[in-house]
Amino acid sequence: MCGIVGIVSNKSVSASIIGALKKLEYRGYDSAGISTISNNRINEQKCSGRVDNLEKILFQNPSDGDLGIGHVRWATHGIPNQINAHPHSSEVVSVVHNGIIENSDKLRDEYIKKGYSFKSQTDTEVITVILTDFLKSEDLINCIHKTLEKLEGSFALGVIFKDYKNLVVGARRGSPLAVGYGHNENFIGSDSYALKSMTNKISYLDDGDFCLLYREKVEFYNSEKKKINKEILELSNEDNIAEKGDYKDFMSKEIDEQSFTTKKCINEYLDKSRNEINIYNLPIDPKKINKIRLIACGTAYHSCLMAKYWIEENTSIDVEADIASEFRYRNVKLNKDDLYIFVSQSGETADTYAALEKCKKNNVKTCGIVNVVESSIARLADFVLPIHAGPEIGVASTKAFLGQMLVLYLLILKISKERSEIDQENYKKLILDLIKLPDFIKQTLSKQKDIQVVARDFVNAKGTMYLGRGYSYPIAMEGALKLKELSYIHAEGYAAGEMKHGPLALIEDGMPVIVLAPKDRYFEKTISNMQEVIARGGKVIMITDDTSTTMSENIRFKFQIPKTNSTLNPFLLCIPLQFLAYHVALLKNCDIDKPRNLAKSVTVE
Ligand code: M6R
Repeated sequence: MCGIVGIVSNKSVSASIIGALKKLEYRGYDSAGISTISNNRINEQKCSGRVDNLEKILFQNPSDGDLGIGHVRWATHGIPNQINAHPHSSEVVSVVHNGIIENSDKLRDEYIKKGYSFKSQTDTEVITVILTDFLKSEDLINCIHKTLEKLEGSFALGVIFKDYKNLVVGARRGSPLAVGYGHNENFIGSDSYALKSMTNKISYLDDGDFCLLYREKVEFYNSEKKKINKEILELSNEDNIAEKGDYKDFMSKEIDEQSFTTKKCINEYLDKSRNEINIYNLPIDPKKINKIRLIACGTAYHSCLMAKYWIEENTSIDVEADIASEFRYRNVKLNKDDLYIFVSQSGETADTYAALEKCKKNNVKTCGIVNVVESSIARLADFVLPIHAGPEIGVASTKAFLGQMLVLYLLILKISKERSEIDQENYKKLILDLIKLPDFIKQTLSKQKDIQVVARDFVNAKGTMYLGRGYSYPIAMEGALKLKELSYIHAEGYAAGEMKHGPLALIEDGMPVIVLAPKDRYFEKTISNMQEVIARGGKVIMITDDTSTTMSENIRFKFQIPKTNSTLNPFLLCIPLQFLAYHVALLKNCDIDKPRNLAKSVTVE
């Protein structure tokens, strides 16, 4: 979390830093700050709250200077106030940081004993102090190198020095950092998206690297202070389509895009002339896969749970889905015949990345399913399958979730076919059904208004439940997560069959309960569970492809999804749940794209 940016230029940089910070706000938005160098001094300006607040401050009191750094914060150490906001500066150096310095308490004590004092409660300020101290005795490269060596934990850093008026320093360990190249100016940023209005030429630092950015050149060093070269990538225009347009917020745009992004992803992977899925060269022969382990966090984890059902349905492969923050520390037995799949929209989630690193260290076969193809996970995994969803800016994941499920589904069908566990005819039929999916998604999207009406029931609700069986269970969990993060209403997703084992006690008269009941092999059983909820006063919102009206009595509302083959229901069921979370949040006046306490890219564990 946290976003950092740095620019060295031949013109004033503060407006460009503010522009880049606005793009990085998805990473953190509790405070913001900027440092530039002018008149032979460091000008640090910072505030609590959004970049807009910082912009107003700069309007009153402009920050001149042709080099500078900026930061948006997601607090880890110390409350989000002005003092704890970054940059953290001394007389001679100013620092912005994304990550956590795990030995900051120890370092603080060490430097207090040396006579230094600290202004903030942050872990970051130790970096400022250490750099300040080393500057007294070391040359620049040694000062940076020795400082980095003292730090434990994760970081991406941007640093400027009062006495180096043509220099911004970047460093990376565990948190991402991109370098952008311009004409007589160069940039660092937490991601390429932040730099996109300034350049489309990008390099990425690897763990342990640091870089010296001058106006006319960039020098890279590895953790042993050796000069290294970096590949320069050219971003395509497609990477640059992250604008809100006429939409009120990114989330509504991203929900609406799902028919298009699904079609695009299908086109990327399907050879329609042969009805074949173009996924080849997996790091392990599909016929020899002993087990598949799916690892991710949050919404991405729900896509893994979904995949578990599809794998069991379509192959004989043993499968497990794991939460990355658990997997990375568990004594998991890693096996060379297993395939380890890591799912992440950002490709930067710290826990998912650490779980992947653990697998890489043990030489097992890994596959990354990501949206951001230049991300750390994409670069580390043996094999990468992009979801082609385009930039997702809203903190609540929507189109990326659909994309993750879609790529997992395609991969599973392909593995099943390679293992001859699905017959050719069925394979072809499933592919033909899949081709129709974008249209079904479109139809479902067109019914947004239906959900708007029912959203009112939730505004004053104490809590709610999402129930489903089989394929609908992971979607129930995802629906509950969406409502929680957007509207701050307590919601849980349950396997409908679990209700009697405890959760039924929570049902009160008038409590809204969402029941996912597509007409699949679980339908009758789900309906029985639904009746048990109704009998106890629950107000049911039923989401189904069933068109019979006989069982609609006592149902507060029924949302109809189009009829398709039941394996594809999850793609449709999740859409009304996205709408529901969105409209409840709107009614409650919540910040749709930036829910409280959260950030889009979780780069700390
Ligand atoms: O970038 P990732 O897919 O790795 O992110 C994982 C989770 O942090 C993310 O899905 C989170 O749960 C979403 N905000 C939920 O909408």
